[in-house]
Amino acid sequence: MKTVTLTMPLDMHVHLRDAEMLNTVAPLTSYSFSGALVMPNLVPPVKTVEDVRGYRHRIKVAMESDDFEPYMTLFYQNYSRDFLISIQDEITAVKLYPSGVTTNSEGGVESFDIESMRETLEAMAELGIVLCVHGETNGFVMDREAEFMSVYEMLAQNFPKLKIVMEHITTREAVEMLDRYENLYATITVHHLMITLDDVAGGMLRPHLFCKPIAKRPHDRDALLKIVLEAHPKVMFGSDSAPHPRHAKESCGCGAGVFTAPIALQLLCAIFDEHDKLENLQAFVSDNAQRIYGICAEYKEVVLVEHDFVVPQMYGSIVPMMAGETLKWSIERVD
Ligand code: NCD
Ligand code: ZN
Repeated sequence: MKTVTLTMPLDMHVHLRDAEMLNTVAPLTSYSFSGALVMPNLVPPVKTVEDVRGYRHRIKVAMESDDFEPYMTLFYQNYSRDFLISIQDEITAVKLYPSGVTTNSEGGVESFDIESMRETLEAMAELGIVLCVHGETNGFVMDREAEFMSVYEMLAQNFPKLKIVMEHITTREAVEMLDRYENLYATITVHHLMITLDDVAGGMLRPHLFCKPIAKRPHDRDALLKIVLEAHPKVMFGSDSAPHPRHAKESCGCGAGVFTAPIALQLLCAIFDEHDKLENLQAFVSDNAQRIYGICAEYKEVVLVEHDFVVPQMYGSIVPMMAGETLKWSIERVD
């Protein structure tokens, strides 16, 4: 039977939520990952030293293992250089949401006025704090990411020393942008390597596949697959696992977010194996992120085996992607 050993897998974009939901999902991520970049879009969002410390503490309590590091983020607003200096040791990145484009992003950036952002972004560059961006406009849903490319260009040109991560990219346009600027990087989810808009809304509506950014066209998915399978050095895995309770997904106002944390590594193994590229998975799920972020991850070995795994119908109140379906790979053990 085929096996794969991944060392120190990292999920560089995850939503762990808070309270009861945190208690359900944190152990699922800390079981199979060495660390994860934790998104700050709580209600209210993570914006102060106290917010970061408190949330980190609650995550640590909710996890069921010690060999996991939550890499903390702040919700972007124009922070002063002094504030960033005071918090630099406690955060890894700042996450920028344009206002209103996704779940809990209401307090995000209204307009990209470079001069008003300059102090914050220059200080981040100086201090080595990464800028993570949810790159969507509020235009037509299929065009939102492509329309955002001009903002990435403006940021990359104005702040050449700032590391900018284009989060959860879904389009050919974003893939093409990656090599145009040295300081642009990207995360890619597992679901965007698997589905297109057709899977979400082409037949019966599938709320558990509905997320922001929405899955795009086959040529977009192919472009993502190409750079992921070759483990392009500027690309990292970020699941964007975004749990919502079942009643919030199976409703007439379905919240955006796909829950993949407990199945992400199994799905990635299947995808890389199908394309005979298993040797590149380690770089995609860990090495690239460690190099880009300058992270030295907690030691962990995850052994996966080509053996059926039936995805549970529910984890607590949450329906995972592919609930009840059989995956080809499973996690054999974690050391
Ligand atoms: C995320 C969430 O639910 O917090 N939703 C999503 O569809 N991805 C927010 C985000 O990352 O856009
Ligand atoms: Zn997200």
